[in-house]
Amino acid sequence: MPFPQAAREFDRISPEYDATRDPLDPETVRKVSEALREHGVSDLLEVGVGTGRVAAPLLASGVRVTGLDASQGMLSRARAKGIPRLVRGNAYRLPFADRSFDATLFVHVLHVLDEPPVAIAEASRVARRGTFALVRPREGPPDRMREGFSARRIVYRVLREQGYNIPSVGRRGPGAKERELLATYPPDQLVTLTDRTVTEPLARTLDMISRRASRHVLDVPPEALARAIEVARAEVGDRTFTYHRVEALATWVPRAEASV
Ligand SMILES: C[S@@+](CC[C@H](N)C(=O)[O-])C[C@H]1O[C@@H](n2cnc3c(N)ncnc32)[C@H](O)[C@@H]1O
Repeated sequence: MPFPQAAREFDRISPEYDATRDPLDPETVRKVSEALREHGVSDLLEVGVGTGRVAAPLLASGVRVTGLDASQGMLSRARAKGIPRLVRGNAYRLPFADRSFDATLFVHVLHVLDEPPVAIAEASRVARRGTFALVRPREGPPDRMREGFSARRIVYRVLREQGYNIPSVGRRGPGAKERELLATYPPDQLVTLTDRTVTEPLARTLDMISRRASRHVLDVPPEALARAIEVARAEVGDRTFTYHRVEALATWVPRAEASV
């Protein structure tokens, strides 16, 4: 997604973002913080910091975090959480000199970028010790993961039937774009942090979409959205979806260090 679009869309999503996304698994955050310490990182830039969902606990663990984001709306939520160093800027052209930070971090950002390798190269430019990304390297069989998208798929189908231009939902399930990135731009290290079996009601996604915390429905009129949600609620009922959630930390180290 280009920078102006990210700014526009996440500004609109920001009021509902925290209420519709789970906080990160505390164990994952603890292990990210541990990994940063092991790499000697005390001064971190989080690219795509959003509402500070990750920056806030990292800051509390003693890391000096600077957060950068395209969206003022997301940044103002982060500011309200007491994160002092926040900058509006573009992941593709970071407003910092080479090697300004110990490290850079992406959390749940790479999948919204059109050119993740370009953003990683730019993040690597401003980092002395390396660039980290919290990624989902595998999540289970593709047919199971497709099930996780089924509520969303129904809403989008009903909206398309009414003539709205809504993209089709990925066939490969959530996380596929990140896995593609790991294959085409392999990290120097990929360490599993947490590995859990998670069960979620499918209707949870419908709550998120009905609150317009999903960028694909931002411009759909309220009546049309309500109708699509109603159809989807009737179809998914109280079905749940169980999947394997693996969170891993990918690390790209500066070239000189990688070859040592
Ligand atoms: C899905 S949110 C993740 C936010 C946060 N890292 C988290 O895990 O809660 C993606 C964030 O990336 C930001 N973003 C998207 N494209 C960007 C770009 N080109 N430059 C800077 N930020 C961008 C959005 O504004 C949004 O806040």
